[in-house]
Amino acid sequence: MGGQWPSTGARKLRDALSLWQVPTEVEAFATELFDGLPPRYDGLAEVLSFGQNRRWRAELVRHIEAPSGGLVLDVATGPGGVAVALRRGTGAAVVGLDLTYEMLRKASKRLGEGSGVHLVQASGTRLPFPDCSFDAVSFTYLLRYVSDPAQALTELVRVLRPGGTIASLEFAVPGGPLRWPVWWVYTRLLLPAWGSALGGREWWRVGRFLGPDISRHYRRFPVQWQLRAWTAAGLDQVEHRIMSQGAGVVMWARKRGGAV
Ligand SMILES: C[S@@+](CC[C@H](N)C(=O)[O-])C[C@H]1O[C@@H](n2cnc3c(N)ncnc32)[C@H](O)[C@@H]1O
Repeated sequence: MGGQWPSTGARKLRDALSLWQVPTEVEAFATELFDGLPPRYDGLAEVLSFGQNRRWRAELVRHIEAPSGGLVLDVATGPGGVAVALRRGTGAAVVGLDLTYEMLRKASKRLGEGSGVHLVQASGTRLPFPDCSFDAVSFTYLLRYVSDPAQALTELVRVLRPGGTIASLEFAVPGGPLRWPVWWVYTRLLLPAWGSALGGREWWRVGRFLGPDISRHYRRFPVQWQLRAWTAAGLDQVEHRIMSQGAGVVMWARKRGGAV
């Protein structure tokens, strides 16, 4: 954990040693999808969301509570933007966990020594931590890349201490006669086109994937489903905020059981 992210040689050794965590089909897909994005990820995530990604993140961080000597887990940390904001916002040490090696390498370059953010490569569906080991947990854009979102939630809640806070950020689908068509044209046509123009083949691919996947995922797991799943996973005081005309949703809650 922490420090320089391993070189390619060390990566191969680590991959060989960690074969016990055989990736699922959807994890292999996510790894491949995200492997080529890191070089331009931070800039393009902001440009292609018209700066909304930054607003959504800030809202998520606002709902994470942890003591300054505490420990926060950020799942699907990618290049570490949320993890850094959590470190700044809480003063707690942060563990940034992600499936994709290249994302973590990018995060490692951004962080350097003494950042207070420690990186771990693993799946959010099989966390290598004991029960109740974190004061707070956050996750961003994760559940669309797991085969069983309810099970993934249970796993995230497992490592949270009773009374601890959890918050997430996800895409959503705007409703209404004006907002939906505008969103549809943006996600189906403009996102892949602009992604390709600004980021090349990798961003074209992710742009083509994202729009239909957001619709598919949201049809199966709308906000009402999420609210029920969070409660069923052992969370109380589940609240949410729909943002940017319905394009994003931030959700937060507290784990049942602890002194509040
Ligand atoms: C859209 S990126 C978000 C990155 C970051 N949270 C941000 O907001 O900038 C989604 C991230 O989820 C990661 N991911 C996908 N499936 C995962 C899983 N099962 N466990 C952990 N990370 C996963 C990907 O590797 C990718 O870095």
